[in-house]
Amino acid sequence: MRLDKFLAEAGIGSRSQVKTYVKKGMVTVNEEIVKKAEQKVDIEKDVVKFHGEIVEYVAFEYYMLNKPEGVVSATKDNVSKTVIELIKDKKREDLFPVGRLDKDTQGLLIITNDGELSHNMLSPRKHVDKTYYATIEGIVTKDDVALFLEGVDIGDEKLTMPAKLEILSSDNISEIKLTIREGRFHQVKRMFEAVGKKVLFLKRIEMGGLKLDESLKPGEYRKLTKEEINLLRRT
Ligand code: URA
Repeated sequence: MRLDKFLAEAGIGSRSQVKTYVKKGMVTVNEEIVKKAEQKVDIEKDVVKFHGEIVEYVAFEYYMLNKPEGVVSATKDNVSKTVIELIKDKKREDLFPVGRLDKDTQGLLIITNDGELSHNMLSPRKHVDKTYYATIEGIVTKDDVALFLEGVDIGDEKLTMPAKLEILSSDNISEIKLTIREGRFHQVKRMFEAVGKKVLFLKRIEMGGLKLDESLKPGEYRKLTKEEINLLRRT
């Protein structure tokens, strides 16, 4: 890999900033000052230092975020805070969220720079399960459970795929768990609208077999373990 790419991806600075650092002699490869930004480095073997400190290169990062309300699932936004801004100790500058949660939705969001994993989890052909906890205005009934299992008309060309609705409590405000296998725009809210009800609070608690770590408060995150990454790869 080119030295300037290596340094930029390791978060030292932009591609043009790191070129300047290299020209100024601030970078060594195996203890030798290197002044050519296009020099190749072996990420497995070479020791690169910036200002005398070893530059760690991490190819992929994987985080589980408990997304808080009020933050957008995007990499950049002119108005609102993004989920990426919440990952304070990230090494990579190319992180993105795997799919989206609405601004007012909380819960499990995977943040990574692994495009292949993300593509596999979001591909409409893979039907990855996503489970939500929600509170609903109105009494959720067994009829709703049956309708969701058949598929409901949310105004798209096709009905929704069979979804598993579990009623946790049913009063003027009901608590439910819902597992869907698609990721249509505002899908959970629109499914409840289709049966004349309103989602008041929505939180994703599981995706592709990965459960939200309940010790994470909204806005908190942690790295995924190797086992969790493998679980998502198998998904
Ligand atoms: N369904 C919704 O309506 N909103 C979300 O954020 C996720 C699923």
